[in-house]
Amino acid sequence: MSDEGRPSPLPGLLVTGAAEVVTMRGGLRRGPAQDEPAVLRAPSTDPGDPRAPALAAWEGRIVAVGPGDEVRRAIQAGGYPADRFAVVDAHGGTVTPGLIDPHTHLLFAGTREGEMRLRQRGASYLEILGAGGGILSTVAATRAASGDELAAHGRRWLGEMLAHGVTTVEAKSGYGLDATTELRLLEVAERLGREGPIEVVPTFLGLHAVPPELRDRPDGADAYATAVATEMIPAVLEQGFARSCDVFCERGVFSVEQSRRVLAAGAALGLAPRLHADELAPSGGAELAAEVGALSADHLAVPSSTGIDALARAAERSRPVVATLLPATTLFLMSGHYAPARELIRRGVPVALGSDFNPGTSPTPNLPLVLSVACLQLKLTPAEALAAVTVNAAHALGLGESHGALEPGRQADLVVWDVPGHAQIPYWVGANLARIVVKGGRVAHARE
Ligand code: NIG
Ligand code: FE
Repeated sequence: MSDEGRPSPLPGLLVTGAAEVVTMRGGLRRGPAQDEPAVLRAPSTDPGDPRAPALAAWEGRIVAVGPGDEVRRAIQAGGYPADRFAVVDAHGGTVTPGLIDPHTHLLFAGTREGEMRLRQRGASYLEILGAGGGILSTVAATRAASGDELAAHGRRWLGEMLAHGVTTVEAKSGYGLDATTELRLLEVAERLGREGPIEVVPTFLGLHAVPPELRDRPDGADAYATAVATEMIPAVLEQGFARSCDVFCERGVFSVEQSRRVLAAGAALGLAPRLHADELAPSGGAELAAEVGALSADHLAVPSSTGIDALARAAERSRPVVATLLPATTLFLMSGHYAPARELIRRGVPVALGSDFNPGTSPTPNLPLVLSVACLQLKLTPAEALAAVTVNAAHALGLGESHGALEPGRQADLVVWDVPGHAQIPYWVGANLARIVVKGGRVAHARE
């Protein structure tokens, strides 16, 4: 009955033989709870120990997690036919929820490796953008790309992400800056999610940069914010693919007032707000995220102390703002300003981590590498970092009730890692340890 390593047509899935199952059950993590991964461990090193932790899923949903003998009893008691389960043997590895990347700019055309050299020589990110490079060079290439070209690019990088244990990805638009291209990016994101196996959550990021057409006007940023709020958002709504609305709220890019206007227009039509906040300088982004009750405030490399206070107050709400930190971006920008993760956790703010996959500031599809950087530079523990890319990332995407944890009733998205304990996942820096990746109860990737 073993189907290990192949996509299975069987409705059931039984994962056995794990040294550790990291369940992340118990909901959103904040404060000291971010360091509590709810781990089930094998009681002995005997690979055949009937009490070794196991997980059963049926038709894509988890039905039981716990000691192996109990899971088998639950399968029987539930009336599930035992011969309709594909068995995945974890061979003494570690099982975690599938990783969720809550912040990517998945779809774009062209590359920007030359900017790395410019930054090494001292040019800043905003200087490069001001000179018409940066985001604007990606916009020119993206506008010229067809939907099929963008989809081929997206498939390639989603494949890399899947191979690193990622089962759900947020994908922002933002390299069109005109209605036609922005809608094309959202359409491709939706199409790729429908194709699977990775689930794609599209986000509208119209307010990403002032488009080239308006750059020479002194009121260009303001005029563009008005166009995003009054023309693009209704069109995005009519298309029906985006679930949230993002803005680049940053001194020298878009002001708090412009960001607020766009987020309010989106929220009025049902798009949840999220922000690029305080990435390069304290810009009021964290404060605005708390004010509008954003799903997440992202980057937070250099928030002000009032911004941190505002997020800490928001953390007391039933639905707090998730601080989505993107340390691979700090690494790639060579800024040295890593987000104050320890302070955020100490103040009770739930922390998520994302790759920020994009051609300018974070060209990496490797979310486990981001965990390593988070441990090394943000000083997260391995358990905190794992919570940040599972249960907390799910909340940052509004999927907190269905994704991100191995609990009965939730989606059966999981990874079997080639290490005996979760602390080794960020420890082997840059290694690809994901052996088997399961999405919706099916083996979606198995390493050769
Ligand atoms: O998250 N800062 C805005 N957006 C991206 C970078 C986009 C780009 O440079 O192409 C970010 O860093
Ligand atoms: Fe980003």
